[in-house]
Amino acid sequence: MSKRILLTGGAGFIGSHTYVSLVEGGYEAVILDDFSNSSPGVLDRLRVITGRAVPCIRGSIQDRALVCRVLRDENISAVVQFAAFKAVGESVAQPLRYYDNNVGGMIGLLQSMNDAGCRNLIFSSSATVYGEPESVPIAESARRSINSPYGHTKLIIEDMLGALHQSDPRWAIGTLRYFNPVGAHPSGLIGEHPRDIPNNLMPYVTQVALGQREYLSIFGADYDTPDGTGVRDYIHIQDLANGHLFALKAILEKAASFVVNLGTGVGYSVLDLVRNFEAANDVAVPYRIVARRPGDIASCFADPRLANTLLGWQAKLGLRDMCTDAWRWQQHNPRGYDAT
Ligand code: UD1
Repeated sequence: MSKRILLTGGAGFIGSHTYVSLVEGGYEAVILDDFSNSSPGVLDRLRVITGRAVPCIRGSIQDRALVCRVLRDENISAVVQFAAFKAVGESVAQPLRYYDNNVGGMIGLLQSMNDAGCRNLIFSSSATVYGEPESVPIAESARRSINSPYGHTKLIIEDMLGALHQSDPRWAIGTLRYFNPVGAHPSGLIGEHPRDIPNNLMPYVTQVALGQREYLSIFGADYDTPDGTGVRDYIHIQDLANGHLFALKAILEKAASFVVNLGTGVGYSVLDLVRNFEAANDVAVPYRIVARRPGDIASCFADPRLANTLLGWQAKLGLRDMCTDAWRWQQHNPRGYDAT
């Protein structure tokens, strides 16, 4: 009997790709999503990719009665928690919304899990917990710091999970610190579709390449990096999704608890990404250099060795795959999951 896994926020960008990885890895996955920042249109695409019905419950992780019922009725062995807000600027403007949704939502989810006796959890953390890193590559032992309410919610939850595990060793908790997920499933059926103007680089680049936006604004070319533009650890969403499969096996089969980076260990600048995208897809990405974006850092990339040692996972896909897959998704779905 394959184990049943609940993906809270499973209809989003990372959740939907992880859904595919888990089903292909032999698990039965169930999605719980309130569609506050995702589209139900993803469900039909997931059905096509996996060739089977996609169990999905519409609801919020804040609804304790619902979550408890789902955990019990569906006989859930573990939860992978993606349901959170993630826009840095918005979190500065609306901090209480972020603390309520991200931290409050997590507390409700953990209480429901405890009540239902399901104490296996994978949590989506972020490289944002490192704030402005003292050095790169960044190992998990690096000092953490806060540079936005969004980042603070991740940090608070990491600490909360540590305390929970200390208090009751029946909890097995895998915390995954994502670097910069980009790309899309190679089918072109699922991908990232920001509701408004994209905050993140790759969706902006694909929209410019398609002519939906006139040019890319590169936020600063005066950083202390080889070409002056910001350096990040872009990781293919397929590799990131696969990391969840490895993490899940570790908590379910070894009752392990851990905090690991999910990155490639390679840093690329904004200009590197733009040039690779143009070359890989034979398309132009006009850009202008503009002022730095407040809160941005010069360089951020992972030391990914711990995930390899503990989980046996490592990223396999390169920047070219990230660029071609992101482009295929954007071309086939210029308006995301809405009618194309
Ligand atoms: C951002 C968040 C981070 C969050 C992550 C995932 C900030 C400061 N950080 O990471 O906390 O976990 O997204 O949602 O927002 N860039 C441009 N032009 C653009 C967009 C981006 O030049 O239109 C540059 C940025 O300055 C940066 C790089 O591209 O150097 C990557 O930016 P982005 O994709 O927003 O990711 P992060 O800032 O690393």
